[in-house]
Amino acid sequence: MTAARYEARDGLGWIVIDNPPVNAASHAVRAGLAEAIGKAKADPAASAVVLACAGRTFVAGADIREFGKPIAPPSLPDILDAIEGLDKPVVAAIHGTALGGGFEIALACHARVLSKDASVGLPEVKLGIIPGAGGTQRLPRLVGVPAAIGMAATGRMVGAAEALKLGVADAVAEEDVLADAARLAKKLADMPPRRTRDLPVPPFDPAAADAATVAATGKARGQIAPKIAADMIRLTATTTFDDGISQERAAFLKLVTSDQAKAMRHAFFAEREVARVPRLEGVKPRTTERVAVIGAGTMGAGISVAVAAAGIPVAVVEMNEAAAEAGRARVAGLFDRMAKSGRLSPAQHAAAVAAHSIGVDFEAAVGAADVVIEAVFEDIEIKKALFRRIAPVAKAGATLATNTSYLDVDAIAAVTGRAEDVIGLHFFSPANIMKLVEVIEGAKSDPSAVATGVALGKRIGKIPVVCRVCDGFVGNRILGAYRAAQDILLENGGTPEGMDRALEAFGFAMGPYAVSDLAGLDIGFARRKSLAPTRDPKRRDGGTTLDRLAQMGRFGQKTGRGFYRYVEGKRVVDPEVTALIEEVAREQGVTRKPVDDDLVVRATRAVMANEGAKILAEGIVPRALDIDVVYLQGYGYPVWRGGPMFEADRVGLKQILADMREVSALAGPGFEPAALLVELAESGGAFASWTKRN
Ligand code: 3HC
Repeated sequence: MTAARYEARDGLGWIVIDNPPVNAASHAVRAGLAEAIGKAKADPAASAVVLACAGRTFVAGADIREFGKPIAPPSLPDILDAIEGLDKPVVAAIHGTALGGGFEIALACHARVLSKDASVGLPEVKLGIIPGAGGTQRLPRLVGVPAAIGMAATGRMVGAAEALKLGVADAVAEEDVLADAARLAKKLADMPPRRTRDLPVPPFDPAAADAATVAATGKARGQIAPKIAADMIRLTATTTFDDGISQERAAFLKLVTSDQAKAMRHAFFAEREVARVPRLEGVKPRTTERVAVIGAGTMGAGISVAVAAAGIPVAVVEMNEAAAEAGRARVAGLFDRMAKSGRLSPAQHAAAVAAHSIGVDFEAAVGAADVVIEAVFEDIEIKKALFRRIAPVAKAGATLATNTSYLDVDAIAAVTGRAEDVIGLHFFSPANIMKLVEVIEGAKSDPSAVATGVALGKRIGKIPVVCRVCDGFVGNRILGAYRAAQDILLENGGTPEGMDRALEAFGFAMGPYAVSDLAGLDIGFARRKSLAPTRDPKRRDGGTTLDRLAQMGRFGQKTGRGFYRYVEGKRVVDPEVTALIEEVAREQGVTRKPVDDDLVVRATRAVMANEGAKILAEGIVPRALDIDVVYLQGYGYPVWRGGPMFEADRVGLKQILADMREVSALAGPGFEPAALLVELAESGGAFASWTKRN
């Protein structure tokens, strides 16, 4: 089997790309295409050519696995020149997704027919690069400069109907895209090929192009590729096609080896790798046909909506009719918003609503479910009491999941008498939108129960990360560690606004104190109170300031005051808070010294990696990429840094260790460098290549 083949049929030449799973334009595809184009050119029986793909999709892009390595000829731009230069019309027949280099192949064809559910796009910026095979030069010639920026600088995909409207598609096939493409090819056979490169760039309003650029770059703070993509598209107005192509190629080749592109490629593959847990290899998930969710509060409603949206029947149970009624309203609101935002098509919306029910009959809902997800208040005694009720009612072989962000899944499992069925599923809020779910494997969880959590997560469109039990699992445990370090730096001499500024410049959408105000300081206060009896008094955790603010009723945005004051929705530095921080420092005998932005960033980065190293060494997760995915998907970590462990490797673990020692000196007990960090730093190792073999 060749990755691209040529055949003559019915007076037409057919070029078929066949490189499963997504027809990526690998070297084999490019070589096959070069040969096929040669045959098409020489074939007197072919008056025109259809270029199509086998399998589930049109070409989904260049082969990302080849990036960063020398490009073996023929290159994609050379292939596209050959296609565009053919003196017979070439029609692309597009099904599935034509993305990146795949869409660029289609743009070099002389016409495009899309199946009605196909979509096209230039998602390169999501990999930290720009199109490298003419996308920035051909697309604007078809759709105009502002629309091309709106696509290539954001990575947005457009569906067939929009593609037709924009002028990218010549036709949309209702039934059979190959038949329609063949018909169009025959129609065009007698005409000279319409070469995209020769089309004039439609006149455009520079203000519209500016606005499209600002919109695209605003959404991708810290990323370098979107602005470059927009600049390349703008070039089409001022230079020749050939010059534009060579500038695009040079920019592409430079970006492909950039740190941002490496980080974003890591993120792309890590997200796909994470659900393949070595120790679960070959373990079959249990059948899941029905789900029960206990509790219709914020989390229960969100989780149940995510399940129903995937077409899985879900019954939500509440304590009484009033609570069920409130839950129904909450769920209806979520469904409506998903329909309005286009996350659910009208048909999907109707199916999801039909798959969802809320009632008060605990026995009926739990007894019928293959997976029971408990989503009640985060209190271990309440959860244990509930699991004592669930265990005898749930059918044999049902998987019993607790949605918890901190609690000990083993302690909950212990009350059920069927600990092998119990797992944790830590969803993130809003649970119908956020993609991350930590799947918690208890000490006694049967592998098939864990695999069921993973499989269910995937079915409902989530990215499941399997981790073992520890306080806060991966995400909240690391969060706890670096927030404590930040709070200590705040006492030592920092300011909320200075530290937020430093971390926003690092790439977080919001700094830690702005986030605390948004989440509500009462939540952290309550948790600190519950942990107080077990807290080591000799260990600094920087929480006193937070406690005092909460005691003053400064709960954050919801009360108009927290670490900041909120004036018309804007955060404003509050001298009262500055005075409070200074007072707390005095009480603790701390002499405040200015904390510069660099220290804030280095300390945060080092503590994240340090706690991550402990998590790895303890076997909570087997690979550093698991931690990266948790942070990218659940905690707003900048994707162009690839995740906290990838970032630590980039900086170099020797430097991270030095930074950690500095943190340790500033923050005291509890912040010692982790043994694994020391070991890897001293041996010249990296997190990326370290795997816990269990
Ligand atoms: N290169 C190499 N491998 C790719 C790939 C690509 N472009 N796109 C997908 N794959 C692999 C995935 O890693 C995965 O491998 P695995 O099974 O070993 O994990 C497999 O194909 C299936 O992918 P998904 O699990 O993502 O399958 P989905 O059906 O969920 O999604 C998709 C399909 C929408 C095509 C999605 O894979 C995707 O978005 N791919 C990336 C598209 C992209 O970014 N293209 C641009 C590439 S850069 C480029 O073209 C540069 C050019 O301008 C020169």
